[in-house]
Order: sequence, then C-alpha cells, then structure tokens
Amino acid sequence: MYRGFPLMSRYSIKDIFAQKPLRKKVEIRGWLKTRRDSKDFSFLEINDGSCLANLQIIAPSDLKNYTEIVLRLHTGCSLLIRGIVNESPAKGQEVELLAEELVVYGWSDPDNYPLQKKRHSFEFLRSIAHLRPRTNSIGAIARIRSSLSFGVHKFFQEQGFIHVHTPIITTSDCEGAGEIFKVTAPPKTNKDDLDDLSPDNEFFGKPASLTVSGQLQAEVYALALGRVYTFGPTFRAENSNTSRHLAEFWMVEPEIAFCDLVENRNLAESFLKYLIQYVLEHNQQDLQLFANFIDKELLKKLAAVLKSSFTHITYTEAISILAKSGKVFDFPLRWGADLQAEHERYLCEEVFANPVFVTDYPKEIKPFYMRLNDDGETVAAMDLLLPGIGEIIGGSQREERYDFLVSRMKELNLDLDDYNWYLDLRSFGTVPHSGFGLGFERFLQFVTSMNNIRDVIPFPRTPGSAPY
Ligand code: 4AD
Ligand code: MG
Repeated sequence: MYRGFPLMSRYSIKDIFAQKPLRKKVEIRGWLKTRRDSKDFSFLEINDGSCLANLQIIAPSDLKNYTEIVLRLHTGCSLLIRGIVNESPAKGQEVELLAEELVVYGWSDPDNYPLQKKRHSFEFLRSIAHLRPRTNSIGAIARIRSSLSFGVHKFFQEQGFIHVHTPIITTSDCEGAGEIFKVTAPPKTNKDDLDDLSPDNEFFGKPASLTVSGQLQAEVYALALGRVYTFGPTFRAENSNTSRHLAEFWMVEPEIAFCDLVENRNLAESFLKYLIQYVLEHNQQDLQLFANFIDKELLKKLAAVLKSSFTHITYTEAISILAKSGKVFDFPLRWGADLQAEHERYLCEEVFANPVFVTDYPKEIKPFYMRLNDDGETVAAMDLLLPGIGEIIGGSQREERYDFLVSRMKELNLDLDDYNWYLDLRSFGTVPHSGFGLGFERFLQFVTSMNNIRDVIPFPRTPGSAPY
C-alpha cells in the first residue's frame, strides 16, 4: 500500500496536541516565538504553522551545548528539537516536550528581526509581508483561507458540480466595465516598436487582458456539463482604494444549467451557510483568536447567519425603503442609480440586521448578459449584502434568448463578432441558466471580522502597490 509522502510520518505541533503521544520520543521543527530562562531550565515556545498554539519545550540546563545554543536563541530562530512528550503541569496546555537534543537551522538577530513580542499594527505587518505569516493573526488567516478553499471544493463536489479551469488571459470583458489590465508581450512583427499594437503586432492577434471573471467561459461548460464552478484569481483595474477592493482577488463562480434566479439564490444561501459551518467546525482555535482580539461578537455573528433566513427584496423596494428612511446619504438616491456601499450596508445592518438579497436591478447598471425581466426595465440580477461587508455575491439569471441578447449587446455597442461563440450557445440548445460570484476575500473578512481586505490575502495588489 502507498504509505504517503515521508514527511507525513513526522509530527506537526497540531498532531502532538491532537494525538498526545505521551512518553513517546518525537521530533519537531519550527520557529522560536519566545524563550524564558529559569534556574534549571529554559522554556521555549515553538510554532510550526500547523496550528495557532505554540508547543512548550523544556530545555534542561544540562542539555549538551545549553550555554552555546539555548541561551543564544531568540525569536525567529528555526530549530529542530527531539524530545519526550509529557503531560504539562502548566495551565492552558495539556502536553509539553522535554528536549533531549536541539539543533539550530538558522539564527535570527534580535536587533534586526522586525517581529518583536508586542502586538504590531496590521499596517506595519503589511510592510513586512514576507514575515507576517509568522504572526498569530496572519498565520490564522492563512489556515482559515486554506480550509475554506477546501470547503468551497467540498461543497460543490458533493453536489456533483464539475470544477472548470477558466482562462486567466482573455479577450472578452465579462463585466463590460472596461476595468481591465492589458496583457502585452514583446511585439510579434515590429519588435522595435513597443507602441505598435496593431493586430499584426499583438501577441494574441488582438488586444487581450487579465480576466475580470470566469463566468462567460463557465457558461460554456455549464451548457454541456450541467453544473460547474470555477475558483480562481480575477483582476480589476478599478481605482478604488478601499478596505473592500483589491486589484487581484479570488472569486468562486458556480454556473448552473436549467436554473432560474430563485434556485440560484437558494444555492447561494446554502453555499454561504455551508462555508460558515465548515469554518466553525474546522478552524475553531483560529476563529477564537479573532473573537478575542478583533470582534467579541464574531461567533455570535456567524451563528446568527447560520440560523437566519436571508431577506429578499427587489432593487425597487430597496430604493423605496432607503428613500423613506429619512437617513441622509453621501450619494443621492434615484431609481436607476447603482446602490453604493453606504446604501447596501444601511439595508443589511440597520433596516434588516440580516443578510439581504437585492434582486431585479435596472438593466442600465448591470452587465449585458443578465436576463431581461418582463417589465423591459429590470434584469434578473441578485446581489447578496452582508452586515459589515456590503456586497459579497453578485449573480444573475443569464439571458438565454438569442434575440434579446443581441439587441442588448447592440445597445451597448459590443462587437458581436467578439462574442459569436457566446451567442452560439443561444443558437444551439439554449437553456435557462444562472450563476453567481462570491468574492473570496470579502467572505474571509466576514468570517474573521478583519477590517481591511489587504490582510486576508497573502500578497495584496492595490492601486500603487504590488510589492513581493
Ligand atoms: O459582482 P461581480 O462583479 O460579479 C461578477 O463578476 C459576475 N461575473 C459573477 C458571476 O455571476 N459569475 O463580482 C462578484 C463578487 C462581488 O460581489 C464581490 O464580493 C467580489 O466579487 N469583488 C471584489 N472583491 C475584491 N476586490 C474587488 N475589486 C472586487 N470586485 C468584486
Ligand atoms: Mg457586483
């Protein structure tokens, strides 16, 4: 039988806490968090990234090289420790390791190591993004992020969705907002003239860009495989320097054939609840960190969403509720204008104190692919708004009627030749179909209550900033 990768036979600190291999000799590897010396021992706190908790190591002063090694250890050193697992008399931990042997992989100069024992601001940590995953909070986010990625796949795979890898480089602008990053390469023919972007000189034969959404290509696969999803990085050249916007973010996009807006909305609600349940089950310790230090109400907030039944209102109802609220907004309200973050948050935080689906937006403020409603004015769109975040999901039923789609594309001056493949889907065996996109980082913000989206992605890209 295949026994797995050899590393798997090693204990991580998480394994040691879970399995408590008492009296067993184990070896662990990790980074030193703190050292404290007493008369006969040094206490070392080691973290290896496998979980939030550190393992306490007792290094007796009769250890070989105690003075040369142990007493010179500082925060950030990387170590291998062999020793015996014992019950710990200390409060708050069940086991500790009595060191028999200790090897230093790499030293860390305490005068220059930027991560001191104190709490650092998230702004400061962003400036050392190469070291910040060693902090409790950013490490916890990395584990939650990984766990939720797996949860996303688990949810869809369990329901028979096929995972499709949609392209990163594309020649269509799905959202039609023109917020695209061009992809260029050394020109093909006229190598000396970098400004010559004539089709002959374009690497792909026509202007290409980084994708803003995998939806259009996901639709292709949905109309063959039934239920599909894509989960990948997307890119938007929006000049929005806010705590909710990134230039590069990850989106989960299911697309379902033979599905209308109501089923789509129900899917979105169960998906969101599944992920919350998943993170509560699998990342308890990490979530507790955020409940302790970022938002005392975090666990209550998550439990409330699980119990709630999401509100649904139409855009027109939303406008009327906001207009009657008497509240003064920075952005004026008018039927036909897009809802701004302040309106969205007012609705889900103040008016309903609940997740809110807003549906049926005016067609003018939504992309070309959304299905026109019978009123001729609105489209079968749905945005999900979450307290503390605002819009977390954007989705719709897609226009499956060839003539309606063509006339909308013409109104928007889209070049039909660029989208002939998309139109073909409506010519050959078209079906009602729907889908949505969940902003993965916004969702991570929701489950951690982290205020800034730059802190829930390893290496944030925002206007004016793409280090690392
Ligand atoms: O509402 P959006 O633009 O929808 C689409 O892209 C559709 N094509 C999705 C689909 O139907 N398949 O984006 C979806 C979600 C938003 O609700 C938001 O959560 C997130 O993506 N999002 C961003 N997250 C971080 N930074 C940005 N600049 C974002 N723009 C959108
Ligand atoms: Mg949107």
